[in-house]
Amino acid sequence: MDIAIRPVGDEQLDTFDRAVGAGCSYHSSDEELVQARERYHRGFDRRIFAAFDGEQIVATGINVPMAITLPGGASLPMAAVTAITTRPTHRRRGLVTSMIGTLIDDAAAHGDPIAGLWASESVIYGRFGYGIAIEADSWELERQYAAFESSVAISGSVRMVDTVADARAAYEQVWQRAHAAQPGMPKRTDRMWDVRLMTQGEGTIQFAVLYEEAGRCDGYAFYRVRPDSRDGLPQNEVIIQELVTVTDAAHAALWRFVCSIDLSKTIRASNRAVDDPLLWMLADPRRLARRTRDAIWLRIIDVPRTLEARTYGISGALVLDVVDAFRPQSGGRFRLDSDGVHATCVRTDAAPDLKLSAADLAAIYLGGTSCSVLARAGRIEEHTAGALRTADLLFATERAPWCPQGW
Ligand SMILES: CC(C)(COP(=O)(O)OP(=O)(O)OC[C@H]1O[C@@H](n2cnc3c(N)ncnc32)[C@H](O)[C@@H]1OP(=O)(O)O)[C@@H](O)C(=O)NCCC(=O)NCCS
Repeated sequence: MDIAIRPVGDEQLDTFDRAVGAGCSYHSSDEELVQARERYHRGFDRRIFAAFDGEQIVATGINVPMAITLPGGASLPMAAVTAITTRPTHRRRGLVTSMIGTLIDDAAAHGDPIAGLWASESVIYGRFGYGIAIEADSWELERQYAAFESSVAISGSVRMVDTVADARAAYEQVWQRAHAAQPGMPKRTDRMWDVRLMTQGEGTIQFAVLYEEAGRCDGYAFYRVRPDSRDGLPQNEVIIQELVTVTDAAHAALWRFVCSIDLSKTIRASNRAVDDPLLWMLADPRRLARRTRDAIWLRIIDVPRTLEARTYGISGALVLDVVDAFRPQSGGRFRLDSDGVHATCVRTDAAPDLKLSAADLAAIYLGGTSCSVLARAGRIEEHTAGALRTADLLFATERAPWCPQGW
């Protein structure tokens, strides 16, 4: 059987979307296909690929051009990978392996030095050189236990907007300022904003609030309320969809606000930064139930360009032996030389200080974990005494990486 992977044209998008549905076990009505086109394709500059078995699409994948902020504030182009599926009749024959290879080649051809994705299952992507670069927390807090013990001073105020779309310009400028200081946060294009503000949640009502101070908006929150009551007792659920701030006062004010909405029993939030200070603000911190899981998986395609793009914590040099079993031409030995801020990275024949996989280099790249932790997990070999500590200090970041954007 001959199966070929090819780019997908606009005229094949419905067939493509149905194939994604078949791969993910959902069926799209004609109306849903129109909505999918609006949400995922219209106005997006994306590169769509499918594996064809004759006329039938049997595997799918998309690269979306994006850019994420790095430690130090620079932005790096990234191929954001999505719609990875294989038709159930064609699984475990290597199709996703070929598709990921195609998408990495496509990213390299378009000058994207990294690729990134949200994984449906964490068992899938490590073999392709993807590592967990960003983790995220899900929270649940009963409002009756949401007393605050500590907070920075708040001199601005929280304002509700009439309809969520009304204050788009305010959200956009907050995101713009927040993303410049937050490793892992992508730029959000106009089309991404359109889609973000389109999002519905069945059985809930959406609200938005702004935090304003000195005539400027420093933060916003979109949240949904699921109305509920039992035996006459209000039990509403408040679901935080997005809460983005640029100052500590905005963060404190918005969390105080969402934790004090009358008639609500539970506050839930997903995809929060793992170093969000909320825990340290609560009088009864154990009441903040937290679950941490992998968020963004990164794949480094061009090691020198990627390593030179971020800043570093100390001056120092390391030779890294990067084992890239899936794409050997991306791996090899590299000398990273930092002056305390910027670094050069070049191929070398020198003896390595550390030996690590491409996936593990991706995992430490944004400061989401350290070489020492991965060495303790048996994943990194230290060939020169002290190299792990040097790597920890080089790659450490002030803030944990966070990606409040899905794709
Ligand atoms: C995940 C998925 C795309 C894998 O497709 P596939 O074409 O079967 O993958 P391959 O045949 O190329 O698998 C390559 C290897 O990964 C393993 N693998 C792939 N998916 C796996 C999974 N979900 N669980 C465990 N192992 C998996 C295969 O066993 C194979 O291992 P091997 O090389 O040791 O034989 C497919 O199972 C699927 O469509 N799942 C539902 C949708 C989904 O979850 N998509 C991912 C969105 S992020």
